[in-house]
Amino acid sequence: MPPESSTIAGEVDALFYFIMYAGLILLAVVTLLAAFFVLKYRRTKREQTSGIAYNTPLEIIWTVIPTILIIIVFVWGFKSYLKMRVAPKDAIEIKVTAQKWFWSFDYSEGVTTVNELVVPQDKPVKLVMSSRDVIHSFFVPDFRVKMDVLPNRYTVTWFEATRRGNFNIFCAEYCGRGHSEMLGVVKVVSPQEYTGWLEEGAALGEGLTLEELGARLYIAKACHTCHKIDGAASTGPTLKNLFAHAVPLEDGTQAIADENYLRESMLNPMSKIVAGFQPVMPTYQGILKDRELDALIAYIKSLQIEKDATDE
Ligand code: CUA
Repeated sequence: MPPESSTIAGEVDALFYFIMYAGLILLAVVTLLAAFFVLKYRRTKREQTSGIAYNTPLEIIWTVIPTILIIIVFVWGFKSYLKMRVAPKDAIEIKVTAQKWFWSFDYSEGVTTVNELVVPQDKPVKLVMSSRDVIHSFFVPDFRVKMDVLPNRYTVTWFEATRRGNFNIFCAEYCGRGHSEMLGVVKVVSPQEYTGWLEEGAALGEGLTLEELGARLYIAKACHTCHKIDGAASTGPTLKNLFAHAVPLEDGTQAIADENYLRESMLNPMSKIVAGFQPVMPTYQGILKDRELDALIAYIKSLQIEKDATDE
């Protein structure tokens, strides 16, 4: 198992190992005894069966020992379960939104990130989670934290990271074609770095041109996972040389990739499907602010090849 990196991880592992070793010991005892008795009391021609059908001490032993084991596991498990379910009062609260096929994280300071959850070390973090489409599951193996994320309903989990570094987020509920690519990372930083990061994030875009901001958002909002800028088609069409060009659509018509087309494609991706691509893009409604939409459009405009610019 990956190294224990949250306050709860040790408890989860201890219970897991207890159940595993208790199970292995019981398996060994039962198997050895069964083999021993099969050999020792095998029926030979002359012997009759002993006729013994009941033994009170034995019945008591194999009823009481498993009952004690089950009570230990239940009490132990229930205590840890309560601890995992009830977030400390002073926890930092972050809103998690799952959708096909990425995670977005909303901080109360106004910062939104995609596939990157930045948290301070040694501080409890409470996640309030919901899905925009199907059931997903938020899973960080290093923290031993896993919780289903459902549409039309909030689920809550929390953790306190004990080590700095990057830890993988997986989606642990099959959610369609892109399930295996629904990856994120928890970045655990020092409390000072965290405060600095939040301030920087809240001020994102100040002092940047729209085009520069768009280039950052292209990575930060995970556009690059489906749309390449080198001219090659991926899950989605390339963004290179897209602006102001005609785009063939699934229904046989054409659209011109102007500002309104790009904006519509980000907010309502199902309205115009480009021929040859699957209708899998999630909506960015509520994730991109107006200025961010403008910035991405400016960035896409900048992705024209030189020759093209001189042609026009
Ligand atoms: Cu989301 Cu699997």
